Amino acid sequence: MTIQQGQVDVKQEDNSQYLNKASAMEMETYDQSGRQPVLLGFLIAVIWLLIGTVLGDLSSFKFDHPDLLSGQAYLTFGRIRPAHLNAMVYGWASTAMFSVSLWLMPRLCRTRLRWGRVASCGILVWTAGLIVGLVLLLQGYSDGLEWLELDRMWADPLLVVGAAMVGASVWRTLAARNVHHLYVSVWYVAASYPWFLIIFLAGNLPFYRGVESAAVNWFYAHNALGLWLTAVNLALIYYLLPKIIGRPIYSYWLSLVGFWALALFYALNGMHHLIGGPIPSWMIATSITASIMMVIPVIAVGINQHMTVVGRFGAMRYSPALTLAVIAAMSYTAVSLQGIMTALVSVNRITHFTHWTIAHSHLGLYMFVTLSLFGGMYYILPRVLKREWPSRRLIRLHILLTGGGMALYIIALGIGGVLQGLSLLTPGTGFEASVASTKPWLMLRSISAVIISVGHLAFIYHSYLLAFSRKHSTTQLPPFIEFKPVLVKERKS
Ligand code: HEM
Ligand code: HEM
Repeated sequence: MTIQQGQVDVKQEDNSQYLNKASAMEMETYDQSGRQPVLLGFLIAVIWLLIGTVLGDLSSFKFDHPDLLSGQAYLTFGRIRPAHLNAMVYGWASTAMFSVSLWLMPRLCRTRLRWGRVASCGILVWTAGLIVGLVLLLQGYSDGLEWLELDRMWADPLLVVGAAMVGASVWRTLAARNVHHLYVSVWYVAASYPWFLIIFLAGNLPFYRGVESAAVNWFYAHNALGLWLTAVNLALIYYLLPKIIGRPIYSYWLSLVGFWALALFYALNGMHHLIGGPIPSWMIATSITASIMMVIPVIAVGINQHMTVVGRFGAMRYSPALTLAVIAAMSYTAVSLQGIMTALVSVNRITHFTHWTIAHSHLGLYMFVTLSLFGGMYYILPRVLKREWPSRRLIRLHILLTGGGMALYIIALGIGGVLQGLSLLTPGTGFEASVASTKPWLMLRSISAVIISVGHLAFIYHSYLLAFSRKHSTTQLPPFIEFKPVLVKERKS
């Protein structure tokens, strides 16, 4: 079999002396052991991405035309917006993260995936919970807490059982590991499942009232970001960067500092969402202090990932997965530094209740989480399906439209949010003036929403071609992944 230019033999790629010394055949066994749940999760995630995109677009257009489709109660902003949040966070991101976890664990533990069928059932139970929750939400049944809107009685139990089943497969695989050393990605993935279950159960307990309820609400929501969405995506990035460029992680020690500092400080951050609210000032002060302390894990992760890639950024030309992982890693640093700044009282009094927060949300949940998941899918799917992505052009288009479109979204709302906040603080200026100051920026956001949506459609169409077109079956890795990228500078040891 000849290897065409730009393509690499599976054996050659996995001969990498660094992250994985396992043979290509061994790797294939691990990848194939999780084939069913991994593909199921990605398929369901992509469907949620489509639904979430429609809901996000509609929410955005309603800012420009408030009467748009408001004749039906289920299409009003108050229902469409939380439906967008839930479809994207629990449908798209979390389901794709199940697949990422179930693919990473066998590779890093050097063993087959255990309890794969349990994981597949878990993904289906989770999806059923989400469908029930979203249908009820659109009908007007909401628990009334942000990020915890889904019905406590009918939807949440299914979500808990579903996540626990996937987590059981992750932990059973960990227990059957054939390695002594646990790579940092294993730490993050394994910890994220019990973390998620604990915070989700705590957040949904029905005992809290008033201010207490708000405090528990934000304890949950902030930790869902840090101990679930962030944890699994950092695990993925920590895997992809060294693996693709064929170089070990810069510092094992720094990766542990990052992990433990995240575990320690994130849980104390939640109350910074309530700055200015009627809760005890010691709680706010503690959360602001913990937010500032977040600089430790953020810088540790940033240095570690940057130093791993430095000198090899040129390899991004050949690997979409690397390109996306690098942008996602940089966005993680950016969103965290922005978040730390936003947690300061002097900044928060301007930006709170403004579109600045939405810009921050999407810098984190899109530029970091979603791009990292796209990168993961570009890397994982060809290995599980044993087929190449059919079109280099569609990949470029997808990255350009989603990355560029979301950059426009974030810049527009960042500027619009500050202007809105300053206007709200100006004595004598009416509320209408603050609304007027945001109009052009919201219009720009809607334009960017259309651009991003076209990017999503390109990705979904391309995934369909990859999965269902018979033309591209291959035993070789995608042409974008080279074993020895050009522009390599060896690090002096
Ligand atoms: C097509 C891309 C997207 C568009 C057009 C979009 C649009 C929107 C809009 C219009 C809002 C309401 C903003 C407001 O209430 O002021 C929103 C909120 C939100 N979106 Fe998106 N979004 C997109 C992608 C995503 C993705 C991929 C995620 C998660 C993975 C996400 C997570 C959220 C969250 C968590 C909120 C609530 C933010 C907050 O309260 O601060 N969005 N989005
Ligand atoms: C050191 C890290 C971080 C700090 C200190 C931080 C800080 C903050 C603060 C203070 C707010 C509240 C703003 C307000 O309501 O006035 C906020 C909101 C938010 N942050 Fe962060 N952030 C950090 C990292 C992240 C990351 C990594 C993500 C995404 C993965 C993220 C996603 C969000 C979202 C979605 C919201 C809006 C929640 C809502 O209102 O629905 N943040 N953050």
